[in-house]
Amino acid sequence: MSIALSPALVSHLPTGLLVGGHWGPATGGRTFEVVDPATEEVLFDVADASPEDARRALAAAHDAAPAWRATAPRERGELLRGVYERIVARADDIAALITAECGKTRAEARAEVLYGADFFRWYAEEAVRFPGLHRRAPAGANRQLVQRRPVGPALLITPWNFPIAMATRKIGPALAAGCTVVVKPAQLAPLTTMLVAEVLRSELEDRGLPAGVVNIVPTSRAGDATSPLLTDPRLRKLSFTGSTGVGRSLLAQAAGQVLNVSMELGGNAPFVVMADADLDAAVEGAMVAKLRNSGQSCVAANRFLVHDSLAREFARRLAERFEALRLGPGADDGVDLGPLIDSAAVDKVDELVGDASGRGAQVLTGGERLGRKGYFYRPTVLAGVDPDARVSREEIFGPVAPVLAFADDDEAIALANDTEHGLAAYAYTTSLDRAMRLGDELEAGMIGINRGMVSDASAPFGGVKQSGLGREGGEAGIEEYLETVYVAL
Ligand code: SIN
Repeated sequence: MSIALSPALVSHLPTGLLVGGHWGPATGGRTFEVVDPATEEVLFDVADASPEDARRALAAAHDAAPAWRATAPRERGELLRGVYERIVARADDIAALITAECGKTRAEARAEVLYGADFFRWYAEEAVRFPGLHRRAPAGANRQLVQRRPVGPALLITPWNFPIAMATRKIGPALAAGCTVVVKPAQLAPLTTMLVAEVLRSELEDRGLPAGVVNIVPTSRAGDATSPLLTDPRLRKLSFTGSTGVGRSLLAQAAGQVLNVSMELGGNAPFVVMADADLDAAVEGAMVAKLRNSGQSCVAANRFLVHDSLAREFARRLAERFEALRLGPGADDGVDLGPLIDSAAVDKVDELVGDASGRGAQVLTGGERLGRKGYFYRPTVLAGVDPDARVSREEIFGPVAPVLAFADDDEAIALANDTEHGLAAYAYTTSLDRAMRLGDELEAGMIGINRGMVSDASAPFGGVKQSGLGREGGEAGIEEYLETVYVAL
């Protein structure tokens, strides 16, 4: 049985732009379609913001900024706690919307709602905790006051793969710090983020807080709509999650105004299975690290690097587990894996598999599209993969697990680090010494040892090398929205 969106959700779902506390149409009434990736059917038409609409949203965020930064930190915290409660109370409904626009299974979507809501709970608590300093200068002649101020209106550009969590991970700390925001949700899956904006709008209204604190501008013309904001002096912060290529271009545009930026970019996570690993645990961890959201996650394991002595058996067991998965619409009972986001995603995954098999990799399972409507690709295990195959070098963003063998620890670490990316890494070992070495030497911002998942609202999420700048989540996440001001007196 498949579970549809509830009529109450459908009738109250905002599909316009939220500017200054009011939902309305885009200039000229222009809209774009949001498609269900499991059926290829249009779900909703959504307002398509123009550059002028984006400027109106920034003006609203700018106008609301003085009042918002003047609110008591406790008040900001209580607002976020209120929104957390409302989201958790509606978890099933919101999960249904995530499944509809993004494709992931209902269970995964529900887990994402709780993960996403947790950023509001965490930053409700952090809003009242960020420290300052007051001391006598060492020479004794004066006092030093070091205070933290909100950086100012922020543009938050969010991706489609976790449409609630990637938005709350930015909005939570921004609001807690005292920043007002303009959110530009992903064109492919904007609806969940828009629903969260509506929950925030009504919580702000109920508490008599400024209306323009949260603005949202869905658009099919991302570059055109956001570029003018990056050169507008009213904008003081840019936070982006998406590909390294787009991140580079945004960084270049942000340089003009020396904007404060946070970037969560692409990954190519190694999943290292050492000779002494517990193989059962490694296969279990691999299922999570690879298949969350059908592999469409920046922290998804991209390359499975397995010691020679275990590589064949690891690949065999993983293929057996993949083979047993039920692929289908995420809203259907009993489905383990949903579709990819669009036909371009399926084409790319298929090309990577073709390139790897052309270079000698063996397809143990999968390696093809599912013959039905929707953007489905069979979960795939590739053995004997060339380290220079595209699948080893590029972010796959799909349910494909390439297995590569290594001979010793040095080679494992060298292979793992042989990428310009450095977002996440995973490693399985039963040796404490090896675990410590991997923790020291893997070039990644997040390292899971004997764990296939690292994400947590209370932990710093972000990358090294070309995987990004700054951190989201944890104590570090709020720092991205604060600046330090020193007063000598
Ligand atoms: C991502 O894909 O960027 C985020 C996934 C997560 O937060 O775990």
